[in-house]
Amino acid sequence: MNEKLRIFSGAQPSGTITLGNYLGAIKSWVDLQNDYECLYAVMDMHSITVRQNPAELRKRTLDLLKMYIACGIDPEKNIIFVQSHVPSHAQLGWVLDCYTYMGELSRMTQFKDKSKSHADNINAGLFTYPVLMAADILLYGADLVPVGKDQMQHIEICRDIATRFNGIYGDVFKIPDGFMPKAGAKVMSLQEPSKKMSKSDPNPKGYISMLDEPNVIAKKIKSAVTDSEGVVEYREGDETKAGINNLMTIYSAMTGSSMDSITSEFSGHGYGDFKSAVAEAVVEHIRPIREEYDRLSSDKAYLEQIYKAGAEKAEAIAWKTVRTVYKKIGFLAR
Ligand code: TYM
Repeated sequence: MNEKLRIFSGAQPSGTITLGNYLGAIKSWVDLQNDYECLYAVMDMHSITVRQNPAELRKRTLDLLKMYIACGIDPEKNIIFVQSHVPSHAQLGWVLDCYTYMGELSRMTQFKDKSKSHADNINAGLFTYPVLMAADILLYGADLVPVGKDQMQHIEICRDIATRFNGIYGDVFKIPDGFMPKAGAKVMSLQEPSKKMSKSDPNPKGYISMLDEPNVIAKKIKSAVTDSEGVVEYREGDETKAGINNLMTIYSAMTGSSMDSITSEFSGHGYGDFKSAVAEAVVEHIRPIREEYDRLSSDKAYLEQIYKAGAEKAEAIAWKTVRTVYKKIGFLAR
């Protein structure tokens, strides 16, 4: 009998994966894979809430799957799949739409932000996005959902929807917990450290892509916005230190050092030395990931085998949940 607790998480194939996605989520997935039974999906259905070019979406879906593996997610140990390959996500998503209130969805900050940045396409999918995300998680009875801080509100609403449903029909869903890494749950833009690092940032100097060349990464870190104080010290909540706080967070996530020990390591040094050390740590951490990614590029058959097997395994678990839910709500069995 498998007594491991279960994890579900995923990322959207809507652009290059950034250091933010990696530190906030994917690195935790890798760290947790030995202790949990894990399902990691490429969330292509979520990504069409913003208009996508079809050929690009297909390519990015495969690229993201490849990135998961390159980052160290072992396809032998984990179930890796593409969301749209498992119809249960849409099926449970619809049911849960009917158990979610407009009022609670309209409070979601991601919806508010995306409605602003995509004012010409505020579609219903963008609004019900968190319900599909709740379905993703609840289908697998996930105990833990490792995500960055920006997704915690969506985990909260998932818990609310599940609790509401269970209140009516009995214990159908497991109530999941979110999981955030100690360092890196919210990596900020290198250029505007009051905003989160984002793959949709029009200024590429604001984010580090996991596919950036080493010299590009070093350049971006060296031109990161800091302050004029010149002291490598972490001050939570101090807006003037946002740039340094962010670089220290990145360095801490890369090296495992605490903020205090980073401060002593760089006492008497200027920001130039500190930035060089951050750049080197990031470059060296990403190098093997990049090499593995390039190696996998030529191996399409291998990737296809992984996502096909993954979808089959995921579907077997997910369909059982849909069947239970259908029965509970009164749908006639076929
Ligand atoms: P997405 O694709 O926007 O991001 C993937 C993961 O990266 C985290 N993240 C960050 N972490 C730290 N700093 C940042 N600057 C940063 N930017 C992004 C996100 O928090 C996320 O964990 N809705 C999800 C995808 C999703 C999902 C799910 C996740 C769909 N269904 C079910 C978990 C469970 C999203 O858009 O992630």
